[in-house]
Amino acid sequence: MILKNCRIYLNNNFVSGEIKIEDGKIKRIAKIINEDDKKVDLKNNLVVPGVIDAHVHLRWRSKKEGFKSGSLAGINGGVCFVIDMPNDSPPITNKNLFYKKLDDAKKEKLNIYLNYGVTEKNYKENVEDAKAYKIFMVKSVGELYINDYTLLKDILSLNKFYCVHAEHKDIINENLKKYSYNSWLSHCLIRDNRAEYEAVKEIIKNLTNAKVHFCHISTKESINILKDAKKNFKITVEVTPHHLYLTKDKAEMLKGFGKVNPPLRDKEDIISLINGINNGVVDIIASDHAPHLIEEKLKDVNECPSGIPGLETLVPLTINLANKNLISLEKAISLISLNPAKIFNIDNEIKEGNVANLTVIDIKKEGKINPELFESRAKFSPFEGLEVKGFPVYTVVNGELFEAYGCKI
Ligand code: DOR
Repeated sequence: MILKNCRIYLNNNFVSGEIKIEDGKIKRIAKIINEDDKKVDLKNNLVVPGVIDAHVHLRWRSKKEGFKSGSLAGINGGVCFVIDMPNDSPPITNKNLFYKKLDDAKKEKLNIYLNYGVTEKNYKENVEDAKAYKIFMVKSVGELYINDYTLLKDILSLNKFYCVHAEHKDIINENLKKYSYNSWLSHCLIRDNRAEYEAVKEIIKNLTNAKVHFCHISTKESINILKDAKKNFKITVEVTPHHLYLTKDKAEMLKGFGKVNPPLRDKEDIISLINGINNGVVDIIASDHAPHLIEEKLKDVNECPSGIPGLETLVPLTINLANKNLISLEKAISLISLNPAKIFNIDNEIKEGNVANLTVIDIKKEGKINPELFESRAKFSPFEGLEVKGFPVYTVVNGELFEAYGCKI
């Protein structure tokens, strides 16, 4: 197959050219390729190294999602690689389960990597095939979290790579005495800015040899402390589209569709996250794709599980930030492709001989977010109806070309 009329993002430059794909690999990249082969006209759309969503909950063996629909959702969203979290039920905290899950992950079209769950008992285990080790500092969704913070020093002295969900259990417990769970806003007040900030501080205080990736950072206070901490430690920072677009004054309107951990914040936090992107404190955007059954999300605040599906909105919402001139297009590509590749050691480079994983984006395409077009089993979104500019139109995964969400609108 030859991809014609590509605008390829190569070595931080946009170059016009063509890409020949054979046996799953990039065979040739050239201005023009005059060879006999099936041709696909990409109409000068942007071709970037396959997008990586470094934070998803595909919920292996669960009717909320599972690898089949999760894989299709990724491809529909222009995503070539995902890193899946271990808060399944039961949690992925032993090697036996991890390798069963990995076997199933390998059966899918999408490239699915797995994180391993850290507990007080298993933290010394080495799991060679885990992308990283996930620490939940508090109960979020599922039964995976650590309770004994005195172990953090020991855990973070190991030469390992951790992804950390930073919300401090003591602050949340304190807030639970102040507020009752009686409104959507109360969820945001109970898991407040201080809960995240104190958790980030707790990690930094105990950090020595480990590498730490802070998941879904959402507050100005965390950005400030991480800016300095990054000078002294091996730290990387992730933010999500929902924390970049939505504020807690929308919580009552969004109801369950906006309930997420960490919760929605304020306008000043969004400004700080955008500044953090532009000054290099923030390294990546990931979706934290967290599907639940619609009937669960329609429940009362007490019973509604936290989480927002995001695999199919990651690319449009990130490119839209560039179209709104909040970040540059180069930055947008770095956040969802180049930087996660470096941080998580994933080879998505557009290079002759490499496996062909490419995301094709029509950066001018305008349309509304429409969950009916999702492949995920979670066909709802707090972004439903939002007008966005920039959609993935094709996804090439391991050499195979698929139409993406942008082709359907
Ligand atoms: O809102 C969330 N949902 N935050 C998490 O930390 C977990 C996720 C889930 O698994 O549903």
